[in-house]
Amino acid sequence: MNNIIIQNIGELILPKKTARPLKGKELNELNIIKNGTVVINDGKVVYAGEHTDEYEADEVIDGSNKVVSPGLIDAHTHLVFGGSREHEMALKQQGVSYLDILKQGGGILSTVESTRQSTEDELYQKSKKEIVRMIQFGTTTVEAKSGYGLDKETELKQLNVAHQLDQDTPIRMKHTFLGPHAVPKDAKDNATFLQEMIDLLDDVKDKADFADIFCETGVFTIEESRRYMKAAKDKGLKVKIHADEIDPLGGLGLAIEEGAISADHLVASSEEDKAALTDSDTVAVLLPGTTFYLGKDQYADARGMLNHNGAIAIATDFNPGSCVTDNLQLVMSIAALKLKLTPNEIWNAVTVNAAKAIDVDAGTLEKGDQADVVVWDIPNHEYLPYHYGVNHAHTVIINGKKVYE
Ligand code: NIG
Ligand code: FE
Repeated sequence: MNNIIIQNIGELILPKKTARPLKGKELNELNIIKNGTVVINDGKVVYAGEHTDEYEADEVIDGSNKVVSPGLIDAHTHLVFGGSREHEMALKQQGVSYLDILKQGGGILSTVESTRQSTEDELYQKSKKEIVRMIQFGTTTVEAKSGYGLDKETELKQLNVAHQLDQDTPIRMKHTFLGPHAVPKDAKDNATFLQEMIDLLDDVKDKADFADIFCETGVFTIEESRRYMKAAKDKGLKVKIHADEIDPLGGLGLAIEEGAISADHLVASSEEDKAALTDSDTVAVLLPGTTFYLGKDQYADARGMLNHNGAIAIATDFNPGSCVTDNLQLVMSIAALKLKLTPNEIWNAVTVNAAKAIDVDAGTLEKGDQADVVVWDIPNHEYLPYHYGVNHAHTVIINGKKVYE
């Protein structure tokens, strides 16, 4: 007897399991089975494929007129932070730019203040609400960054909260240290502060899977980012970078040179750096919800990157300033509208390729895979990005257990 069978599935989405991320044209290849069956036992997928009556289970879910996919993977979030920044919306409406707000001590630095002032329990309760919402929206794995402490005590507080949530909630998590996220107001200079963050790597390396840095005008330069990435790799951490979000500093090229697992944002990346994706497995994690929320017209050149045979993933970038949504479905719609990605590309970008961007064994539904599964109340896979801004998740299963219906 198995635990759950999902039967008569309108469309069963089966992304391909590969050792490398899907690149270029491969991103558009998606196996979709009509009238499929998924069988789950003991947290694992026992069967996912064509219709079969061979199995029995304690619970049968009727998948007719529905879509079933692997759980969504949100490969870039700033999950744990104190406070909120709704007052910045008016500033942005008046034309004050994101980097100007930061320069004036607002933006990331104002969230740093709120995060330093929050207790571990306050951060835990606040972030737990976000996780509950993410699960309701079909996200079963999430990457969570620190970066609102900029000092040892608060960075560790953020990482500890994330680990506690990882233990206490059903969602799967990956953890990232983003100490060099901004330069605190009282820092002597950028280089001195960066060295402090490099020195912190020893303290955080057992609590983080990745080290990340914000490489941007007025924040950290390419050379500083290179120094940090090398130091993090020496400590055994895989590296990520917030690159070319606003200005084309060359962060994508640096990420590729340093063998980063991902380079994120890439709105302003140069042609030369995009072309370098051809021979690289660094995943370009695109965050179109951020471009939308910052009110910009220029989106990351997803098609250009794919034409260069790059690997791309899509994530929310959930954070209190540049993208205040934990709804990856909404970002899938923005990816269709603004990045002009096809439904197949989008589904792969939030499952298998997102898994590669955070080095997690998830995103597929092959026999033996962990059973992270979403039943969507939609008639076909193209429908999700089309009908935007609402929740299409019908049932969410993590590790073989129903966690939302
Ligand atoms: O990915 N750009 C840097 N970090 C975040 C925003 C953080 C914030 O504004 O609080 C991002 O967009
Ligand atoms: Fe980010």
